[in-house]
Amino acid sequence: MVKNDAEDLAKKMREVSVAEFFEKNRHLLGYENLTKSLLTIIKELVDNSLDAANEAEITPTIKISIKQIKDNRFKIISEDNGPGMVEDKISYAFGKLLYGSKFHRLRQSRGTQGIGVSGAIMYSQLTTGKATKIISSTGKNKIHEIEMMIDVEKNEPKIISHNEKDNEKGWHGIKIIMEAEGRYTEGKQSILEYVRQTAVANPYAKIIFDNPNSKIVFEKVTNEVPVQPKEIKPHPYGIEIGIFRRMINKSNSRNIISLLTTDFSRVGRNSAIEICRISKIDHKRKPNTLTHDEIDRLHEGMKKVKLISPATDVLSPLGENLIKEGLKKEVKGEFFVSVTRPTAVYRGNPFLVEVGIAYGGDLKQEGSAQLIRLANKVPILYHQGDCATLESIIETDWRRYGFSQSSGSMPQGPLLFLIHFASVWVPYTSEGKQAIANYPDIVKEMKLGLQEAGRKLAIYVRQKNKLKEKMIRKQIFERYIPEIVDSINDLTGIDKKKLKEDLEFITKKNTKLEEEKENGK
Ligand SMILES: Nc1ncnc2c1ncn2[C@@H]1O[C@H](COP(=O)(O)OP(=O)(O)OP(=O)(O)O)[C@@H](O)[C@H]1O
Ligand SMILES: [Mg+2]
Repeated sequence: MVKNDAEDLAKKMREVSVAEFFEKNRHLLGYENLTKSLLTIIKELVDNSLDAANEAEITPTIKISIKQIKDNRFKIISEDNGPGMVEDKISYAFGKLLYGSKFHRLRQSRGTQGIGVSGAIMYSQLTTGKATKIISSTGKNKIHEIEMMIDVEKNEPKIISHNEKDNEKGWHGIKIIMEAEGRYTEGKQSILEYVRQTAVANPYAKIIFDNPNSKIVFEKVTNEVPVQPKEIKPHPYGIEIGIFRRMINKSNSRNIISLLTTDFSRVGRNSAIEICRISKIDHKRKPNTLTHDEIDRLHEGMKKVKLISPATDVLSPLGENLIKEGLKKEVKGEFFVSVTRPTAVYRGNPFLVEVGIAYGGDLKQEGSAQLIRLANKVPILYHQGDCATLESIIETDWRRYGFSQSSGSMPQGPLLFLIHFASVWVPYTSEGKQAIANYPDIVKEMKLGLQEAGRKLAIYVRQKNKLKEKMIRKQIFERYIPEIVDSINDLTGIDKKKLKEDLEFITKKNTKLEEEKENGK
């Protein structure tokens, strides 16, 4: 006899809420240990504040405070001067997982999933049982103070209290107060490192970081707020059939031409007619009347028509100068090089790669190179082993540029790499947003950037080594001058002082000539 029959099993079946799923799998969101959990909370709060300020074109000032209240328990306060949030959205944005303003669009931003801050609030209540306080104002009459928790089984916000205050000073922004379990350290993968790298990648932001050990203020170093990234529509070449089907079914467009020209980028009226012709579908048809087969044909047809590549001016890179400045802040190096690659495309999504390398100086001579990773200006500190950035460095042949490297590993030497990946959609390997997936198009671009930077670095290193060799030769020659002077004097009787002066002159002249040759004079 079967122990559990289908009816018994059927009784046990029920829907799982997204919140329940992530509560059980909190490691997927970055909450697997105390140190990383505290970092994840701060990261989610700061990323949101920077995104909100950027979108509202406000120069961001962000305050973060972390105070230890007892063993492994911290009080966290974050405050920004962003646009704030309208009253009726607050509880959902903060109290419902997978709810946000960024998922359904293609635009370069730090957050995308709609899970970051609600995940942090869920972790807080899971480890302390306490509610989170959110204070928000859009700068108008009222300041809202909401204490809330998340009803995990329903994945819904649960409001504990809601008070309103007059907004006499016109304050706008969001302030969040929560408690959570964590551990504060200041090592390599720490909050301090995250904040420091964030300040480097966002030099127009002021970040005040009040931590258990000290209060550090990262002043903004420029008033230049970067150009706003633009939102784009998907490009027909990158759209996958499942998504295309959904777009068609949901579409209210009058006809296929209108759908193709308004919901996709780079499709003009003529291209739309051509797509329909190739797909053998009447372009006057209403999209939501298309059959399964017809949608497939249209999807195929879209890829056969020649279209302009996705828009490439939609991204906001750091720029070659800022990369060098950023690296200079990280390390006292001897030579810095940076490269911003042109925009490329993966799965129809525009992206660009920037590479920086710091060499020599304070960097350790021995051991493997180090790596700073940024995705849409957000430092990523964990899961380096799974990241396309590491794969690209490993797959680049650094011996060509004069560094030792065993196969499948980082080059050796005094090297610090920085790789910035900017895209309208960052393909993270998991919800924890700590590693970039290694799509071949992405790895290829990263490698091209690394090679370009590698070549520039190799020129410098080679020149430096040549010069070093010459200096050694000069020193050896100078060491023998007294002996040569004695011998020539013995043989010819020429005045020793004159001989010495002549030989020194020849050495100097030769070295100078060689130096001039080196410098291309
Ligand atoms: N400081 C803030 N100021 C204004 N709006 C905010 C702020 N923080 C969050 N939001 C809004 O709340 C939404 C939910 O935030 P959440 O961090 O959960 O998701 P996200 O940032 O969209 O994506 P991700 O999961 O990748 O972080 C955001 O999409 C944004 O609209
Ligand atoms: Mg977020």
